[in-house]
Amino acid sequence: MTFFTMISMPPKTRGLEGIIAGASAIGEVDPRNERLIYRGYDVRDLAQQASYEEVAYLLIFGRLPTQAELAAFTASLVTARPLDLAVLDLLRRMAPTVHPMDRLRTAVSWLGAHDPEVSDNSHEANASKATRLIAQIPSLVAAGYRLSQGQPPIPPRSELSHAENFLFMMTGRPPDTLASRVFNTSLILYAEHGFNASTFAARVTVSTLSDLHAAVTSAIGALKGALHGGANEGAIQMLLEIGEPSRVDGWLRDALAQKKRIMGFGHRIYKRGDTRVPIMKPLVRELAEQLGGSALKLRETAERVETIMRQTKNILSNVDFPTGLAYYLLGLPLPVYTPIFAAARMAGWGAHIIEQMDDNRLIRPESQYTGPHNLPYIPLTKR
Ligand code: COA
Repeated sequence: MTFFTMISMPPKTRGLEGIIAGASAIGEVDPRNERLIYRGYDVRDLAQQASYEEVAYLLIFGRLPTQAELAAFTASLVTARPLDLAVLDLLRRMAPTVHPMDRLRTAVSWLGAHDPEVSDNSHEANASKATRLIAQIPSLVAAGYRLSQGQPPIPPRSELSHAENFLFMMTGRPPDTLASRVFNTSLILYAEHGFNASTFAARVTVSTLSDLHAAVTSAIGALKGALHGGANEGAIQMLLEIGEPSRVDGWLRDALAQKKRIMGFGHRIYKRGDTRVPIMKPLVRELAEQLGGSALKLRETAERVETIMRQTKNILSNVDFPTGLAYYLLGLPLPVYTPIFAAARMAGWGAHIIEQMDDNRLIRPESQYTGPHNLPYIPLTKR
């Protein structure tokens, strides 16, 4: 290799690790200072003091709302919550065995095909389409799950907050204060996370001048995978399989010997711990203490898994680990965990799609060809 080719080659990286793929003023994942910032605000302050609605407004519109702006935004969300009969029918016609993320992806695609503003990529149209999807995705998740179980969907209630209304649409009961606080916090923590795989997929899609619903459909496809959104469900499946705290050491030893990935552990960017974990963990503790009995045992099992992973592999838990456990303690069924992540991340996806479209350039990286050259073509009849 000559000196020229050495210096002109792009840096080698697997999975774009360490590559800055664009600029964004939406969120900063800052592991060195152990901070996560949304539009200048520390996520710890938002998670402790704000509602999901306020954070969604902040992400989509770029600043915190006034009381009047929040009231108007909340009213738009409430108006968009009920699903029309045609989309309910679409959900009803899907087999109960359809993966919940496939159900959600298909329904969002359907909503796009029927959205009056689908091909309007102006800033204002994208903000209103994103607002509608922030309201519609929780309704799709709850109705889709209930229909897959042979139960009728529960219509939304306008006096409930975004977090409370989702729990209500799942169970038919308005949640208590602790459940609503835990769920609201989890939605805030899931709302935005820089150029993660699903957000990047959304930006790539819309950079071709496609449309917001198409970008969200791509994002849902990316989030489905076990290495991204699927980990919250995977984490609780593992905890249920382990069961007793006394079984943790042996179970993990075997799993790690078989080179299994432990769901809810590790992160591409956070190597000294995920900023969101210490925000979620005390809430899980409070929930487990309120429930007592088997909830306390499951929490103990989870804490033992964290200890062993730290001691043997020096790998720490990520947000999916305490969040998966919180959802389980809230009584939510496993198949909705990743769709809930999508519902929360819709605010971040919307913000990134708008930012991309406001200053668009097609996202089109290069690849390094590693295949052969100069192969002589052999006609089909001679092969
Ligand atoms: N369980 C077991 N080992 C893990 C691990 C996990 N959850 N996460 C990372 N490792 C190990 C890898 O096996 C690898 O070890 P090796 O060098 O001996 O092969 C090393 O740590 C580096 O892993 P790598 O896959 O290169 O890191 P990454 O930055 O590509 O991966 C994740 C990041 C998130 C994909 C990875 O940590 C993972 O698969 N976690 C489980 C899924 C998950 O919780 N996803 C949610 C993320 S918020």
